[in-house]
Amino acid sequence: MKIAIGNDHAAVELKWAVKEHLESRGIEVVNVGTDTADSFPYAVSGFKVGKLVASGEVDGGVLICGTGVGISLAANKVKGVRACVCSEPVTAALTKRHNNANIIAFGARIVGVETAKAIVDAWLDARFEGGRHEARVAMLTEIEETGGLKAAE
Ligand code: RB5
Repeated sequence: MKIAIGNDHAAVELKWAVKEHLESRGIEVVNVGTDTADSFPYAVSGFKVGKLVASGEVDGGVLICGTGVGISLAANKVKGVRACVCSEPVTAALTKRHNNANIIAFGARIVGVETAKAIVDAWLDARFEGGRHEARVAMLTEIEETGGLKAAE
């Protein structure tokens, strides 16, 4: 499995910890984030990880900024991306089970290292349930691809 990881200046240390954790699970990690504390726009890393995930070059993405919000918003502008911000593992698992999230995001100023690892593990270990969730996720794709939603007319 290959996972892309991206971050801004607020999340360099947590990025290294999460990267090491992913590698300890036998996952190949593609690091496209900044590696220094110099100010770095979260949109760049969010966009890069979003493109890698949407193109299928990697199996999923992990994004970390101060809150996880800006970087996930950037990724979600890329067609095909479902990036979800989580601060705990229960929501992280549900984002995969119900929303088929292909990117998980969290904040380095919000969660500590152990919670970050638990979030990543919960998301990686969960499986999309399909069924009734399939149609709901398909609506997100419909909005993205057509700019409209038939069910809302
Ligand atoms: C950077 O200071 C901070 O704004 C950024 O990391 C993130 O929290 C934005 O959503």
